[in-house]
Amino acid sequence: MPQRILVTGGSGQLGREVVAQLVAAGERVRALSRRWRSGAGAEWIVGDLRTGRGLDVAVAGVDVIVHCATDFRHEGEVLQRLLEAARWGRQRPHLVYISIAGVDRVPLGYYRAKLAAERVLAGSGLPYTILRATQFHALVRTLLAVAARAPVVPVPRWRFQPVDVRDVAIRLAELARGEPQGRVADFGGPEVLSAADLARVVLAASGRDKRVVRVRWPGRLYRAYAEGGNLAPEHADGVRTFEQYLAERGNAATLRYR
Ligand SMILES: NC(=O)c1ccc[n+]([C@@H]2O[C@H](COP(=O)([O-])OP(=O)(O)OC[C@H]3O[C@@H](n4cnc5c(N)ncnc54)[C@H](OP(=O)(O)O)[C@@H]3O)[C@@H](O)[C@H]2O)c1
Repeated sequence: MPQRILVTGGSGQLGREVVAQLVAAGERVRALSRRWRSGAGAEWIVGDLRTGRGLDVAVAGVDVIVHCATDFRHEGEVLQRLLEAARWGRQRPHLVYISIAGVDRVPLGYYRAKLAAERVLAGSGLPYTILRATQFHALVRTLLAVAARAPVVPVPRWRFQPVDVRDVAIRLAELARGEPQGRVADFGGPEVLSAADLARVVLAASGRDKRVVRVRWPGRLYRAYAEGGNLAPEHADGVRTFEQYLAERGNAATLRYR
């Protein structure tokens, strides 16, 4: 019997892959966006997780909510609204939340907000599952594309474990279709590479030849990354590598920001 599953952020880079996975698995998928949308085999609902507009319709009758929407500055507020809406209905939907590897180790405001959101969800009384993933390929590429504009490319002495959103989506869809598990093992990309090596991959993919210099700076944030706080090396579960991802985008697009 198919479940009715709501994907918040169904239009985002991860959310649309989750929608595709769930639709392919035969589930009845509803997707939330602030804009009117259609397609992808989902029933689209217009709603806003900050104002609460449309959320009653979005959550009505759903068995599972995969929360892929994110608001950089209001992550906690957005989750609270979703939880309030989820509690209105008669069902107690299983809430699946995507978080980030190292939210408890890296002192970034957004990470702190994600960690707080994890805790709010765990204390919500609703059945839940939390998956933390490492940095998506697109984010790592964007960071390096910015650095690659300089004549000499400065990179921190950090490592990344970029992961493909399609691999994360497969895991999230599997979790959404299963029983609530609380926090599960982190999900990381297939390779841990230094930022310098990743920068060279970006430069090579775009046909540029520049010198990459490794830099460091003081502070807790730098140190947390330098110590690998953003990694999950024991969970190198993703299969699509950063190089494969860049090859799919094509050379010309490699240095574009988005
Ligand atoms: N990027 C990474 O490296 C990384 C790594 C690990 C985990 N994650 C997590 O993965 C999740 C998805 O990230 P992403 O990069 O796929 O995000 P994204 O592409 O930026 O998409 C954000 C989504 O959130 C929706 N949204 C934003 N504000 C909303 C609001 N007020 N009401 C309703 N929907 C709203 C947007 O929908 P509309 O614009 O259509 O309304 C959009 O679909 C986030 O929780 C992020 O923390 C990211």
